[in-house]
Amino acid sequence: SYQYDAIIIGAGAAGMMCAAKAAANGKKILLIEHLDKVGEKIRISGGGRCNFTNLHCTPKNFISDNPHFCRSALSRYTPYDFIDALNEHGISWHEKHKGQLFCDNSSQDIIDMLLSDMEHAGVELWLGTQVLDVRQDKEKSGFIVTTDRQSITCAKLVIATGGASIPKMGATHFGYKIATQFGLKVIEPIPALVPLTFTDQLKEPLKALAGISTDIHVKHEPSHTEFDEDLLFTHRGLSGPAILQISSYWQAGDMITLNLAPQNNIFELLRSARKNTPRQSPQKFLSQYLPTRLAVMISGTQKFERLADMSDKALRNLALMVNAWMVKPAGSEGFRTAEVTKGGVSTNELSSKTMEARNVGGLYFIGEVIDVTGHLGGHNFQWAWASATACAADLI
Ligand code: FDA
Repeated sequence: SYQYDAIIIGAGAAGMMCAAKAAANGKKILLIEHLDKVGEKIRISGGGRCNFTNLHCTPKNFISDNPHFCRSALSRYTPYDFIDALNEHGISWHEKHKGQLFCDNSSQDIIDMLLSDMEHAGVELWLGTQVLDVRQDKEKSGFIVTTDRQSITCAKLVIATGGASIPKMGATHFGYKIATQFGLKVIEPIPALVPLTFTDQLKEPLKALAGISTDIHVKHEPSHTEFDEDLLFTHRGLSGPAILQISSYWQAGDMITLNLAPQNNIFELLRSARKNTPRQSPQKFLSQYLPTRLAVMISGTQKFERLADMSDKALRNLALMVNAWMVKPAGSEGFRTAEVTKGGVSTNELSSKTMEARNVGGLYFIGEVIDVTGHLGGHNFQWAWASATACAADLI
């Protein structure tokens, strides 16, 4: 017989949720974490208030080789289920914008809720523990997990070690390595929800814009994807929700198109301004629709001092820089700052009902380690909760 019904590796969002639920149903569960603390990404998420779910979460908010994979788990554990849990624990929360829900106080409330659920259910938690080796036992019905403390056995093994983003916070490639070891295909993990960087050519002139934030419409033609969100200029390039969202679709070499004044047809407005206020400068005109520093930068790219001097073609060129500014980012800031990891354990290898590997009985993957990547706005946590719940139901 095995020492544990299940061992779960990784005490993040998914691992803690899964451990608490499986143990609450009477299973003997061990949760192993290599850091000295649990839930570090929960703690820092959402600016310290954790954007823990999104009321409008649907499968359309996820990127995956198989866009249908997430459907089953998401439908069986909805944002309202998580809200119920918070309410039961007396944790207060609020909607910020576009269905994004945050803690009123601090993300620590959620970590404490998960820890308390785990404690009540009798989960054994080993912090600061390195897993050195994982293998199936001789009968191939259970697993032997070797750690720097001791070797232990379990009937079922759950990998909840998350993605590769932000190694400084404890992220590792452990989950991908285990998947590969057991013959499961891994889709190349790449940084997502990540700031994009300027080429050297753009970096210098656009440095003056660092700190500016403005509402834009951003488009990525190859994937037919678009978002209406804030753009933030940084010293290195572009960030803010609009860029983070589009970065999950962007690939090296692609252009993105930014509409810096999405509510306004600048060409039409320029034409009527040329008629009504011919002596107005292009800069003054643009300042009505853009942050001043941005208006100065864009108007500085052409030589006209008065709208009256500009031909239709010149007006159109100026308007295009506002309504359809095409940028070719040099790259992304990479795993150092990416909020999530796109790619991961191929969904073809897993059951969408239980997250169990199709060809390795008793081995499960949950959370971000799977090739299911949410949009910004609470969707990644919703996937962690939902996939953990689907798995926990099968451990019972
Ligand atoms: P998670 O990363 O939470 O947990 C994995 C755990 O496994 C960690 O505790 C890690 O230390 C541990 N581990 C790794 N390797 C191990 C090993 N070899 N042995 C043992 N343990 C190991 N999402 C969202 O929906 N709303 C938000 O507001 C934010 N905000 C946000 C901000 C920032 C700065 C980041 C980096 C990320 C976000 N996210 C987010 C994304 C969200 O944090 C992420 O998708 C989930 O935490 C994923 O949950 P998991 O449990 O899968 O991994």
